[in-house]
Amino acid sequence: MKVLVIGNGGREHTIVWKLKKSPLVTEIYCAPGNPGIAKLAKCVNIKVENIGALVEFSREMKINMTIVGPEIPLVAGIVDEYNKAGLKIIGPSGKAAELEGSKSFSKKFMEKYNIPTARFNQVFNYQDGIEVLKNYTFPVVIKADGLAAGKGVLICNTMQEAEEGLRNILVDKVFGDAGNEVVIEEFLEGIETSILCFVDGKDIIPMVGSQDHKRIYDGDQGPNTGGMGTYSPNYIYTDEVAQSVKEKILQPTLEGIQKEEMDYKGILFIGLMITRDGPKVLEYNVRFGDPETQVVLMRLETDLFEIFQHILDQELSGIEIKWNNNAAVCVVLASEGYPEAYEKDKVILGLEAVADDVVVFHAGTAMKEDNLVTAGGRVLGVTAQGTTIEEARSKVYNSIDKIFFEGKTYRKDIATK
Ligand code: AMP
Ligand code: GLY
Repeated sequence: MKVLVIGNGGREHTIVWKLKKSPLVTEIYCAPGNPGIAKLAKCVNIKVENIGALVEFSREMKINMTIVGPEIPLVAGIVDEYNKAGLKIIGPSGKAAELEGSKSFSKKFMEKYNIPTARFNQVFNYQDGIEVLKNYTFPVVIKADGLAAGKGVLICNTMQEAEEGLRNILVDKVFGDAGNEVVIEEFLEGIETSILCFVDGKDIIPMVGSQDHKRIYDGDQGPNTGGMGTYSPNYIYTDEVAQSVKEKILQPTLEGIQKEEMDYKGILFIGLMITRDGPKVLEYNVRFGDPETQVVLMRLETDLFEIFQHILDQELSGIEIKWNNNAAVCVVLASEGYPEAYEKDKVILGLEAVADDVVVFHAGTAMKEDNLVTAGGRVLGVTAQGTTIEEARSKVYNSIDKIFFEGKTYRKDIATK
């Protein structure tokens, strides 16, 4: 079977790495891929936004299955285009992808299907926003409706901050059209966590838990990032929490997907706040998380390609999905300055010195002449398993000491909580 993976980050490197282990997969292509992926797959220079060219490539190369990593092509409707062309693809339809593409869409979906979430209002202009804010206490959360590369959520501690946030989004349009609408919502207190699920439209099957570390600095300080490191299993995600998430969140979410005829054959990532009143949904993402995927897929024993085939056939209930009992840890090495401006093109050295049982997933790397160089904010995801979190953690940090690039920045406290 020939597969195409769309994307170029650590998440896609991990998906390719896992698919490579499948005896059913004979050829892997990745668009556009990165130098780490290029060791396992043929990289093709097509951008993730170029849906027409991706469809054309899949048709010409007789690709049997395409897997979409990032949200941008999903929200742009890539799955509908593949379906029209009679090509198989893993991901939600454009309509279903609105669960991530529009915060107001997802909040209304949650309201309609009684899925626990923060109280909210949708507003279209600054004046209405100011009125609505009178019904909230601080801190309050202000969210640009559309995709804003993880930057569209503002936690405002005072009325002044909230006014400024509303103005930036709705008047000055700092996020462009993504800020044509705003969701104002109650601030939830609790422990933040997330769960990835396989969805085939008939079933929703949670994967093993994992825990991200979103802030840039140790001790959860500094600005939010795409994620600086993960571990699995997630001890916050107890059996009791899992049961409550299943009943109150997964089941009604599936019911909503079915009733709204969403055509969802892919991955659903649910961001949760475990509050005093139980788990509540912060957000839906319609794709694998990055770097959650690195630790989760490392623990997957079942053939990922077979799971995807069962998703396409809407037969998830017919496959037993097995996970190992190991712990896995991923630590992200970032460029100094990230998540703000950072420099690129720093030569990366030492990858060959990393232990055999440690996998270095590439996120933002490129080849320049014959050198591997940095090409993004998040550069590498150093990942390992062990019988305990401590064992996995020490393997990862020992390997990090062997990798060099100018401005190498990482958290020293991943998986210590
Ligand atoms: P989102 O993209 O909606 O998940 O928001 C990004 C981050 O903002 C989340 O991961 C949380 O850390 C935080 N956040 C979003 N909504 C809330 C909320 N209602 N209460 C507290 N924190 C929130
Ligand atoms: N790590 C968070 C995300 O992938 O959205």
